[in-house]
Amino acid sequence: MKLGSLTLRNNLMAAPLCGISNRAYRVICKRYGAGLVYVEMLKVESFLHHNRKMMTLKFFRDDERPIGIQFAGNNPQWLGDACKMAEDEGYDIIDFNMGCPVPKIGKCGAGSALMAYPERAAKCFEAMVNAVKIPVTVKFRAGVNENHLNFLQIGKLAEESGMVGVTIHPRTREQGYTGFANHERTGELKAALKIPVTASGDVKEPEDAMRVLRQSRCDGIMLGRGVWGRPWLFREIDEMQKHGRVITPAPNSLERLAVLREHFELLLESFNITHACQVVRRYATWYIRDVKGSPAIRARMNRVNTREEFHEILDETEALFEQELREAPPEAALATSGVGR
Ligand SMILES: Cc1cc2nc3c(=O)[nH]c(=O)nc-3n(C[C@H](O)[C@H](O)[C@H](O)COP(=O)(O)O)c2cc1C
Repeated sequence: MKLGSLTLRNNLMAAPLCGISNRAYRVICKRYGAGLVYVEMLKVESFLHHNRKMMTLKFFRDDERPIGIQFAGNNPQWLGDACKMAEDEGYDIIDFNMGCPVPKIGKCGAGSALMAYPERAAKCFEAMVNAVKIPVTVKFRAGVNENHLNFLQIGKLAEESGMVGVTIHPRTREQGYTGFANHERTGELKAALKIPVTASGDVKEPEDAMRVLRQSRCDGIMLGRGVWGRPWLFREIDEMQKHGRVITPAPNSLERLAVLREHFELLLESFNITHACQVVRRYATWYIRDVKGSPAIRARMNRVNTREEFHEILDETEALFEQELREAPPEAALATSGVGR
């Protein structure tokens, strides 16, 4: 898939996710087949201000490329300045957030709240595109609510201003994350635009991705919650598109623990031990959610405070799984391993 001058290895992107898409998450997503990863949404004024938290949030390394940054805001001048800075810092692509429904962002007239002000949005688009040579895209929702659906208008404004692609999460601002993502709207948007359209929302299985691609004829898929604890979903969708079926079996319980271990070590590259332990508790829940004995492991993991404790829990769990796999008849071993999930 091409987004302006940027060619991706496939059409699958890891969604920008506040509080989640840190370096560790991005490296793992990339390893399992994401064609493009993003740092989490950054408020434009905080980015320009360069505070300490921001330095951690925007930290990336070359092994994550291609990598995008995403801004939320509604001040064209600030957005243009931030884009220039992001280009100088080496990002490959910039996305503008017009999808975030949280009040903290909405009360500043940014995120999905900006969909109610298309003229202002168009000024932001132009300022961003004109400030840089790297590609600029925008991610938006279907509209503010069911009575104000203006995704086609926003998409056209984006295209006219020189944006090289759009992503739609076809829920309304009012919906937040309730209900379902109506990808018929993705299809309408695709039919109305010449630039690539990426679909975001409710893709949790390779079959979901194939259905959205087929029905909407969209160009790419952005994955959010579906890859939490299951980053190999990228690979599965890639294989499904290329070969019509998933070829590589999903990792078994032991392999999942190995991914979790690696995830933790990667977290330690960017965070101190206290922060890394807090973050890994959430990730651990995802990786072990449907393995045998997961409530007990989760309970222990929720109290983890040191690197040694973390590895000790995983060592013991691993020994348990190994024993189970040794003792179980072959069919049962497959069933507990998570293969085919
Ligand atoms: C915890 C959380 C954080 C999110 N943060 C962002 C963000 O920083 N930028 C953004 O464009 N979308 C963000 N989103 C929205 C997702 O990118 C995505 O559009 C939405 O979750 C629907 O896709 P999914 O069903 O694949 O999760 C966030 C969603 C969640 C659940």
